[in-house]
Amino acid sequence: YSTIIEPFRIHSVEPMRMTSRSERAERLAEAGRNLFGLHVDDVLIDLLTDSGTGAMSNEQWAAIQRGNEGYAGAPSWYRFRDSVRELFPFEHLLPTHQGRAAEKILFGVVGGPGKVVPNNTHFDTTRANVEFSGAEAVDLVIPEGHEPRNRHPFKGNLDVAALDQLLASRAPDVPLVMVTITNNSGGGQPVSLANLRATREVCDKYGKPLFLDACRFAENAWFIKTREEGYADKPVADIVRELAALADGMTMSAKKDPLGNIGGWLAMNDDALAEECRTMGILTEGFPTYGGLAGRDLDAIAVGLREAVDEDYLRYRIRSTSYLGEALEKAGVPVVVPFGGHAIFIDARELLPHLPPLQYPGHALACALYVEGGVRSCEIGTVMFGMGTDGVERPAPMDLVRLAIPRRTYTQSHIDYTIEVVTHVAKHAEEIGGLRMVTQPKRLRHFTATFEPV
Ligand code: F0G
Repeated sequence: YSTIIEPFRIHSVEPMRMTSRSERAERLAEAGRNLFGLHVDDVLIDLLTDSGTGAMSNEQWAAIQRGNEGYAGAPSWYRFRDSVRELFPFEHLLPTHQGRAAEKILFGVVGGPGKVVPNNTHFDTTRANVEFSGAEAVDLVIPEGHEPRNRHPFKGNLDVAALDQLLASRAPDVPLVMVTITNNSGGGQPVSLANLRATREVCDKYGKPLFLDACRFAENAWFIKTREEGYADKPVADIVRELAALADGMTMSAKKDPLGNIGGWLAMNDDALAEECRTMGILTEGFPTYGGLAGRDLDAIAVGLREAVDEDYLRYRIRSTSYLGEALEKAGVPVVVPFGGHAIFIDARELLPHLPPLQYPGHALACALYVEGGVRSCEIGTVMFGMGTDGVERPAPMDLVRLAIPRRTYTQSHIDYTIEVVTHVAKHAEEIGGLRMVTQPKRLRHFTATFEPV
């Protein structure tokens, strides 16, 4: 049969509160037109993020009961460590309370003024942590990665020639090279093993360590299995191990593919670097066998990691995301193709050509989706990335709206409803007005900025 069904039954439910259009318009105005300011009870379909919002399995809930809260050397830590090592066998493993804590520790140690960190595309907190250390964050995704309609199968690939060029002139300033799998900011696009291998070669040429920002490693591995020549018959777990073997370390948010509600880690092979990071970790996260997490969280991740590479789950996961993408594309909504793993990205710049980027077409569209249908999405564009470290605002490379799909959480009718809402809003796109920012903090402004209609 061609229908790919959810490979699970619903085991516990969370009722949602129905809301009206006028009520939502009021709530959004009260929140300063910032979707991060809403109460979840006022949201119907919450596609703000796929981070920590997934449903845990019965086995994960059972693991929570098994959790041991010993301060040092808890059995939960050993189960976590063994599960991580099955996929990512790095020498040193430091749990953290989430991905950005791993970034803060890593860039606190290797970053600093005068340093430059290349990545295919830094995500918001990754960029902020690099910049907070005083270093420069450089995005080197291949040019196709900035073309929403380009169907390149691995649009997350790093521009290896550009990396070589950067290293040729600034090698002493580069502490490490990062590759984000999948490339979240660029549309949830995967990186191929061939590209990672080529990146590794350039790193070796200049003696630089390669780190993975591996939040969506399982989805990336599924894309390798289904799109890259020679991998169709390889188990996903083997592909993950092959990715890991090309790197010297990693940061991870366990709130994504590892199916946790909280958690993350930093891992590496270098002993001296690990020692420095461990000390920093004790300052902010806790003893290295729990790293800011309860033992039960470590156990939930240990089980989640094994579920994340289950191929029936991944087939469903990637299919349910593309189901949304295909329907929107068919309805004439401009979406980033090929479809990403964790989200569908709408090209707001194309859908709202009457709005200049500095009137935030992505954010304006996200607000309209909420008011019209209670669907909460996330702008990934000029609001998120438009403010330079020099305090000058410029259009981001793209103005996208991300419909992120929490793992195992919404049913097909929730998605059918979302399709109806997006299609309706897109049909009336020319009625959507621009926005002006009223207040904004110095960094990471998208989380707390407030807006007014132009
Ligand atoms: N790296 C990437 C590629 C991410 O997408 C995120 C989080 C992080 C690092 C940081 O991890 O949230 O555990 O601290 N992205 C979320 C999102 C928040 O909505 O895409 P964290």
